Amino acid sequence: MKSVVVVTGTRPEIIKMAPIIRALKKAQLPHLFVHCGQHYDYNMAQQFIENLELTVPDHWLKIEAASPGAQTAEILMKMEELLSKAEPSVVLVEGDTNTVLAAALAANKRAIPIGHVEAGLRSYDLRMPEEHNRRLTDHISQYLFAPTEHAKTNLQKEAVWGKIYLTGNTAIDAVKEHLPIAEKTSKIMQQIPFETFALATAHRAENVDDPAVLESFMAVFEGSPLPIVYPMHPRTRKRLQENHMLSKIEQMSNVLILPPTGYLDFLMLMRHCKLIITDSGGIQEEATAPQIRKPVLVMRLSTERQEAVEAGFATVVGTDKNKILNAMNQVLSRKGALPSTSPFGDGDAAQKTVEIIKENLY
Ligand code: UD1
Ligand code: UDP
Repeated sequence: MKSVVVVTGTRPEIIKMAPIIRALKKAQLPHLFVHCGQHYDYNMAQQFIENLELTVPDHWLKIEAASPGAQTAEILMKMEELLSKAEPSVVLVEGDTNTVLAAALAANKRAIPIGHVEAGLRSYDLRMPEEHNRRLTDHISQYLFAPTEHAKTNLQKEAVWGKIYLTGNTAIDAVKEHLPIAEKTSKIMQQIPFETFALATAHRAENVDDPAVLESFMAVFEGSPLPIVYPMHPRTRKRLQENHMLSKIEQMSNVLILPPTGYLDFLMLMRHCKLIITDSGGIQEEATAPQIRKPVLVMRLSTERQEAVEAGFATVVGTDKNKILNAMNQVLSRKGALPSTSPFGDGDAAQKTVEIIKENLY
């Protein structure tokens, strides 16, 4: 029997593919787990494989290239070689990274069907490499797993060739499954010296590669109405270093900088924080999970997760320091509970996805 190839490349892909790998195992469908090595540090890759109790990837590619184009090309070439030997029934990719586009193109060149998990998201911000990656991938996929009605409508409007299925987002599956484990095993809260805090992350290229935006984020941290816990992404650390801003933030007594945390620790930080300020995509989804339910200020000009905004969890606040600080104060004085259900599904997206694969291909 042919295998399903499950591709990951970065931290969020490992987290969101984990429920699918588990569902494939449960359904006894043969599968190969391929990590393309876009993220390679222990705390950006292997740590998540361990936290999510996945088996060692069947293939772990080593990518040498540094520039985005070369990185994409190298993954494409290595994936084509791998796929030509594996001859799978379908290649599953998740999200919008360079890995996703590269692996999808490799499958397309070998005439192997592609399943796009988290299809149909649109930010309409063409500065974002992710917006190009997700659009291109959607248009060469045979199976499009749309997390929401909104994503499904986006795909219908663009008249994609593949079949569209509404599944929910596996980010919610992962929270549901792992928060109880995090509650029992994570010790991160012992490291937090603050009673209440805001949780911050930032890594988007259009933000942290722009020194003016970095400056603005630094001013937000400095003037924040409550202490900040900030697990720092390696891209951002590099940019802060290059712009001579790292020691400034390290000296802020109201900011606790952490290395990128594991998934279980991050779940606990989300659970215990007062609010989240971020430019992450996945965190906007996780904040809506019934087990987390936190307000999120999105430090970007757009979001492809409009559902989180419509449901009242997220607010797109831009990157200007005054706007972000005002929004933080507003959220802190806001009364009223957030919804008790997530617009991204009930936590059964992986099971639905695997059932669709089984019906169509096995
Ligand atoms: C990538 C994705 C982004 C996703 C993010 C998840 C693209 C275009 N971007 O952004 O959509 O939201 O992953 O976190 O695919 N680095 C390390 N160690 C690592 C990985 C990266 O030090 O393990 C540093 C390197 O200096 C590298 C830089 O981070 O050049 C950027 O990494 P890259 O994977 O190209 O992009 P991300 O910013 O991580
Ligand atoms: N995350 C984590 N540790 C961190 C920061 C994030 O485990 O220090 C998790 C978070 O729970 C979410 C995912 O990483 O599941 C989001 O990744 P990221 O923000 O890098 O990428 P994006 O979702 O924006 O593509």
